[in-house]
Amino acid sequence: MTKDTPVAALTPLEAADELERLAVELARHDAAYYREDEPEISDADYDALRRRNDEIEAAFPDLVLADSPSRRVGAAPSEKFGKVRHAVSMLSLGNAFADEDVHEFVARVRRFLKLADGEVVEVTAEPKIDGLSISLRYEAGRLVQAATRGDGQEGENVTRNVETIGDIPHKVTGSDFPDVFEVRGEIYMSHKDFAQLNESQLEANAKVFANPRNAAAGSLRQLDAAITASRPLRFFAYAWGQVDRLPAETQRGVLDAFDRWRFPVNPLTKLCTSVDELLAHYRSIEEQRASLGYDIDGVVYKVNRLDWQERLGFVSRSPRWAVAHKFAAEKATTVLEGIDIQVGRTGALTPVARLKPVTVGGVVVSNATLHNEDEIIRKDIRIGDTVTIQRAGDVIPQVLGHLPDKRPAVAVEYEFPTTCPACGSHAVREINEKTGKMDVVRRCTGGLICPAQRVERLKHFVSRNAFDIEGMGDKVIQEFYDDGLIQSPQDIFTLKVRDERSLKKLKDREGWGGTSASNLFAAIDERRRIGLDRFIFSLGVRHVGETTGRTLARSYGTADQFLVAMAAAQDHASEAYADLVNIDGIGDVVARAVADFFAEPHNLSVVQELVDDHLDIQPLEAVDTGSPVSGMTVVFTGALERMTRDEAKAMAERLGAKVAGSVSKKTNLVVAGPGAGSKLKKAAELGVEVISEDDWFVRVES
Ligand code: IVH
Repeated sequence: MTKDTPVAALTPLEAADELERLAVELARHDAAYYREDEPEISDADYDALRRRNDEIEAAFPDLVLADSPSRRVGAAPSEKFGKVRHAVSMLSLGNAFADEDVHEFVARVRRFLKLADGEVVEVTAEPKIDGLSISLRYEAGRLVQAATRGDGQEGENVTRNVETIGDIPHKVTGSDFPDVFEVRGEIYMSHKDFAQLNESQLEANAKVFANPRNAAAGSLRQLDAAITASRPLRFFAYAWGQVDRLPAETQRGVLDAFDRWRFPVNPLTKLCTSVDELLAHYRSIEEQRASLGYDIDGVVYKVNRLDWQERLGFVSRSPRWAVAHKFAAEKATTVLEGIDIQVGRTGALTPVARLKPVTVGGVVVSNATLHNEDEIIRKDIRIGDTVTIQRAGDVIPQVLGHLPDKRPAVAVEYEFPTTCPACGSHAVREINEKTGKMDVVRRCTGGLICPAQRVERLKHFVSRNAFDIEGMGDKVIQEFYDDGLIQSPQDIFTLKVRDERSLKKLKDREGWGGTSASNLFAAIDERRRIGLDRFIFSLGVRHVGETTGRTLARSYGTADQFLVAMAAAQDHASEAYADLVNIDGIGDVVARAVADFFAEPHNLSVVQELVDDHLDIQPLEAVDTGSPVSGMTVVFTGALERMTRDEAKAMAERLGAKVAGSVSKKTNLVVAGPGAGSKLKKAAELGVEVISEDDWFVRVES
């Protein structure tokens, strides 16, 4: 057999040999082409090798190698990235800004775990890299998939691009490397490489990036992996996703294993045994920040013991066992050229400073928030002033104050409008019922007639953590709204039918085409099926964020039950309202906001129409249907001795139970510790089963 033997003439043994040879050869050419930028053979010869590989694979499908070149870089770029559902979600971190927050973080860990005073809590401290997070899946030591964070549940498949990053091993050797292991970390670009890249982009008349983070993200998300290969991306490993075995019992131990397996681990990672030591390390990293050569925006602290991490678990989308201690914001001064009023989704009028563009921490800023009218008065900010602004991480830049020495004689005081700039309705400041004080926020009273609120509500409705309709971002919503195509959420779901009947088709609009239009319709159809938690969140009810959306979904189970209960809860004296307030995690303010939302006939009709005609709303997945307390409503009362109240609640929820604050007819089980009082009495009256804390453990472990 030679390398020219026709495929049809190959025996299976020869074919296997030939595939091995081609894999090695193509890998060498890939490296020369993508990494060194110095191809050794012509494109045509390279293509011929690939074609031969493909032909042999087609003839002998059983012989396809796990790391076959056909599964790697170089094939025709796909139209867009495929989606990857993360086996273990990729979470975000809670923030600490002041030293006290760090003390509180460790204190909360101690409280949650009920640690004795003498017990030391070891915590690792490492730089928070300002790049983009990535999950690298290895099976049998080979990199098989790389996915971006996306919304934490589902990211983009960027395997081919990631394979071009030199810091990331394609293959991990070492007998202690588990069979399935997802290494997580940050892809970033160094300052030097960023500057060089921008220089060559300028020369080539191509896009210049605002900061290294954008450059890294832009480089990774290239449809043509060859472009990614030409960009100098780097990587630090700091976490993991799905694993079938962990190589150590501590955070530090796992990082050491990463290091042995040749994953870059940040050298400034330190194991600390006290808050003072954490803070000292934080200061030391902050001092080195400017000379590190890459962007960091804080220090991440993680509880070292993995069994403790497990017990601490998560709240909302962040772990209780970790926190990001952010660096103080970056500041700059510039001229305030004017003030615009933005009307938010809830009708809040927010003053926005229009600034002479200025660079703050590597980003050009031309707008900043002025918070509210009282702030403008308190800081005595006038148009024409030179103002100090600050930008911290991803948050909206804000105006801190003005420089009195630089005030020009012509600086004018700003008069805050008392009507909504979007709809002309009165804009008023409510009196807070509890404090009797005037609310700081002025709100438009136009409700659903106000275009600003409508369009903002629509943007929220389709946003990432709500309906997440691909291809329907803020711009598209604004365009469709302005053209009268979409006025209200239901219109999204009738778009396709209306388009079919319309003379002016979406595909014929400027910026659209046949593919993008049908992709959008498909994306809309894909979202007709939605979880009740997301659905509730998407409605944009005041005070109802994702966590509250989930709490409500868990409590009411199905959309029908939820709507029936909400219709009844309009009456604040009703049993339905009492049930609502009684849900653990729902306070008076939230209950009122939810009930009031559904008391508004217009809102109710929109929701009803969505539910009846357009959507298939899924109950929140029960967490553990097999558990003996799954689906029950449990009340914990009295002093618990084997776990803290938070731990008890987290455990019950993990097992699929709901936790309520007080005993009612809906309660199935009361877990009572010493000192339990009125709740026990109530349980006895209602005939609700009462058990001890020990019984609880027996029951859930059985
Ligand atoms: S740990 C479950 N460690 O920060 C916790 N994250 O706000 C997983 N990040 O999405 C994250 N440096 O992109 C962790 N040393 C570090 C990090 C880090 C940067 C990013 C990461 C994550 C975000 C969380």
